[in-house]
Amino acid sequence: MTKSNVNRGREKLLVNDIHKAKTILKNINWNFYQRSTFSPHEVHPFNCRRHHWYPATFVPEIPFTLIEVLTLPNAVVYDPFAGIGTTYFQALLLNRKPIATEICSVAVEYMRSLFILFNSEITFDRLKWDFKEMRKDFNPRKDYTSNVPKNVLIDKLRPWYSEYTLKQLSFLFIKEASCSDKAMKAAMQISISAILKTVSSQDRGWGCIADNVLPKQKQVKDKEVFDLFNKHVNRLFKDISEYLKYVMYGYDSLYKELSEKQTIFHEDVRECKEIPNNFVDLVVTSPPYPNMTDYVTSQRLSYYFLGFDLTDRDLEIGARSRRARKDSIDRYLEVMQRANEVTSQKIKSGGYACYVMPAFNMDNKNNSIRRRIVQKVLSSMDEYDLIKEEEYERILPTIRRSHNIKWASLEREKIYLFRKV
Ligand SMILES: C[S@@+](CC[C@H](N)C(=O)[O-])C[C@H]1O[C@@H](n2cnc3c(N)ncnc32)[C@H](O)[C@@H]1O
Repeated sequence: MTKSNVNRGREKLLVNDIHKAKTILKNINWNFYQRSTFSPHEVHPFNCRRHHWYPATFVPEIPFTLIEVLTLPNAVVYDPFAGIGTTYFQALLLNRKPIATEICSVAVEYMRSLFILFNSEITFDRLKWDFKEMRKDFNPRKDYTSNVPKNVLIDKLRPWYSEYTLKQLSFLFIKEASCSDKAMKAAMQISISAILKTVSSQDRGWGCIADNVLPKQKQVKDKEVFDLFNKHVNRLFKDISEYLKYVMYGYDSLYKELSEKQTIFHEDVRECKEIPNNFVDLVVTSPPYPNMTDYVTSQRLSYYFLGFDLTDRDLEIGARSRRARKDSIDRYLEVMQRANEVTSQKIKSGGYACYVMPAFNMDNKNNSIRRRIVQKVLSSMDEYDLIKEEEYERILPTIRRSHNIKWASLEREKIYLFRKV
């Protein structure tokens, strides 16, 4: 790691009074049917999942509201299970200092690339023009697949795409690897990674990709890559430039300060050595739920593109792929407790932790078991000095529930607010 670590040392607690905060939080409609109007500024939540498909991300309104109500500017906001950075980027836009840990390398790269693009000095119109021009170099008769950069695992990617689709992708892999403009490279990496699943011939959802179910010969079809890629890049630039118009005073100097440090760590939360103890003002997180999702292997195609090793999955808490193991639920409890113990050590005394956790119905045996285990995780928080202050319930939007059969039975989730004694 070339950059210095987050600053060490004991800092002042930068949180709002618990009683005042609770009065505000009690009156929030956590279903967020309408855009939050709480913010006195024009800054509003940034939706990371508009720019990359990743399972079970939370709506940006949740961390945005919690950060704004519970902390003061410059507070340190940490997400131990950061995913694609929904908490990280709300904290950044609200002039707080974000930190993230995450084991999925693809999610870590996404956050790092997105951070590069949140720089108000970037001229997005010039980049848009460069992307439009780039496509003109593509020659459909040329074989690009044999010239892809060494890190791209082209033989692993081959069975998922038609020859023509892979040729277009290979052209983009080559362009991305040779790109010397930092912002352009970041935008390419995000957008290539984001479209790999859609342009693959496996159209039966992320579960098949996670389980390595290759498309059958009759499923293989040609897909147009460039239109989708350009659509992604343009949406990314449009959204970020729109958000950067409304950042608050002090954003640019905070961004510069953060650029000189490493704040996004590829680390197992249970080990987390990069973040000093008693350093964080607020944790906002949604931990993996028991046996419901395979975060790492669902991103298999992006792992092959980026040349990363899928062994990240060995560190994944709550993985769906381990659901058939007899001890998977007990193991979930054990590892979540360890994760919470370490996370609590990072929080300053008087700081807060907000956990978004599932509220399972008792409608079937599996859900009853999951509900019991989640309750155990939550009731053990006080062993780590995290005392529950409040809980808020929200109804999950149907779009998220329709995503997979296991999510379909999950109608509600709760936001738990703890205070570190
Ligand atoms: C529910 S998702 C978080 C999504 C995030 N809130 C967002 O909106 O992008 C849970 C995340 O925990 C990560 N995770 C699982 N085990 C982990 C571990 N041991 N250490 C760090 N992160 C882990 C998963 O890879 C996944 O990205």
